[in-house]
Amino acid sequence: MLARALQTHLPEHHTLIPFTEAELNITDVKQIRDAMDRCQPDVILNAAAFTRVDDCESRQEEVFRVNGMAVGLLAEAIQLTGALLVHFSTDYIFDGGKGSPYFEDDTPNPLSIYGASKLDGERRIIASGCRHLIIRTQWLYGEGGVHFVQTIRNLAASRPEIRVVDDQIGSPTHVVDLAQATYALLERGGAGIFHVTNSGQCSWFEFAVKILQLSGLSTKVSPCSTEAFPRPAHRPRYSVLSCEKMEKVLGYRLRPWEEALRDYMSLLYIPSAIN
Ligand SMILES: NC(=O)c1ccc[n+]([C@@H]2O[C@H](COP(=O)([O-])OP(=O)(O)OC[C@H]3O[C@@H](n4cnc5c(N)ncnc54)[C@H](OP(=O)(O)O)[C@@H]3O)[C@@H](O)[C@H]2O)c1
Repeated sequence: MLARALQTHLPEHHTLIPFTEAELNITDVKQIRDAMDRCQPDVILNAAAFTRVDDCESRQEEVFRVNGMAVGLLAEAIQLTGALLVHFSTDYIFDGGKGSPYFEDDTPNPLSIYGASKLDGERRIIASGCRHLIIRTQWLYGEGGVHFVQTIRNLAASRPEIRVVDDQIGSPTHVVDLAQATYALLERGGAGIFHVTNSGQCSWFEFAVKILQLSGLSTKVSPCSTEAFPRPAHRPRYSVLSCEKMEKVLGYRLRPWEEALRDYMSLLYIPSAIN
């Protein structure tokens, strides 16, 4: 999902060479080296990851291989060339107990295998000594992905009533806004760790209410607790990321999540008759 947005929103006068998993499996060091030799890149954008948070709990070895070890391989190969690695990480490296927005240097304490594996990836990048820009983000949605907006719309279309968790708080983020902010940070020489999300915050329940309202669906949505909706992976209760560091570098904050969502959803309704 993010890889598509990075492709579509590449700034002018740059060339991006995309790889599918079939063309470049990041767990294969030979494929990484071959791709680096062929492309001689200045910047490598790594949007590959094992992202199915609940599945991660039962597939620990595979998850750490992709989100941890492979990221280390990529970083080590990049370190030898002097190129810059742009990598994406997550709010799920935090435990959600802080009660206020997390800064880049707050202490991580992941509650899930996914969060732990992504933290492992971050640490391997830093240990490799390669030039890097690590962008932590959260609650992504956009074209070509499996995400909450689509899930809620599908459920609402097939059920008279849905229940959504109201005690986990974050910032829904449109991948297009994330892609544009990534390129803006790159342009301004951003390096190290940055938090990047749309501004504002809400619970999953409030997010769902807004999605249904913008979809024109009258399906009843009720709030419920995390305990009432158990999932294999534990998630942080409050994992809003402070984007102050990014805002200082860019000179602006990303638009409010409601505005970004409205934009995304307005595109979903373009009638197919317009060719
Ligand atoms: N989605 C979110 O809400 C969210 C939140 C915070 C951070 N992030 C981070 O943002 C980044 C992009 O996420 P996304 O939502 O765009 O993920 P996505 O849509 O799941 O895309 C990840 C892609 O990586 C591929 N992949 C998996 N293993 C690979 C391997 N060994 N080699 C090459 N490709 C591989 C996946 O292929 P398969 O589908 O075949 O497995 C998938 O196409 C990830 O680093 C993710 O951790 C996402």
